[in-house]
Amino acid sequence: MNKIPRGTVQEQTFYEQVGGEETFRRLVHRFYQGVAEDPLLRPMYPEEDLGPAEERFTLFLMQYWGGPRTYSEGRGHPRLRMRHAPFTVDRAAHDAWLRHMRDAVDSLGLAEDHQEQLWNYLTYAAASMINAGE
Ligand code: HEM
Repeated sequence: MNKIPRGTVQEQTFYEQVGGEETFRRLVHRFYQGVAEDPLLRPMYPEEDLGPAEERFTLFLMQYWGGPRTYSEGRGHPRLRMRHAPFTVDRAAHDAWLRHMRDAVDSLGLAEDHQEQLWNYLTYAAASMINAGE
C-alpha cells in the first residue's frame, strides 16, 4: 500500500462521486427509454436496435466525467458536433432531447450540487449541438 502523505487531499472525480459506472448506465438507460417512445427523436437513430447507441453515449459520459477512457479507445476523439452533422438537430429536437434527459437526471436522486453540475453541462452541450433551423 502506498502511504498517503499527511495533508494530501484525495480528490475524487465527479464520476466517482456520483457512483461510477452504475449511475451513468442508469442515466442513459432511462434517457433511451424516453427516446424509444419519442416520435421526433426515434426516427433519427439509424439503427433498429438502440442498444449500441445507448452504449456509446454511456461510455462517452463516463469518460467525460473522469471515468475510464473506453469510449475513445473504441471511437477515437469524440468530435461530437461533427458526428451529429448527419442529423437535423433543430430547436424541436434539442427540446425533446433535453426533456428526456431531465427526466433521466431526476430519476437518479443525486445530491443537488451534483445534479446541477450534470444538468448545466448537458444543457450547454445540447445547445452547442444545434445545427439546423437557427
Ligand atoms: C441536442 C439534441 C441531440 C440529438 C437530437 C442527438 C442525436 C443523436 C443521434 C441521432 C445519434 C446517433 C446515434 C448513434 O448511432 O450513436 C447521436 C449520437 C451521439 N450523441 Fe447525440 N444528440 C443530441 C445531443 C447530444 C449531446 C448534448 C451529447 C453529449 C453530451 C450527445 C452525445 C452523443 C454521443 C456520444 C453519440 C455517439 C457518437 C459516436 O461515437 O458515434 N448528443 N446523437
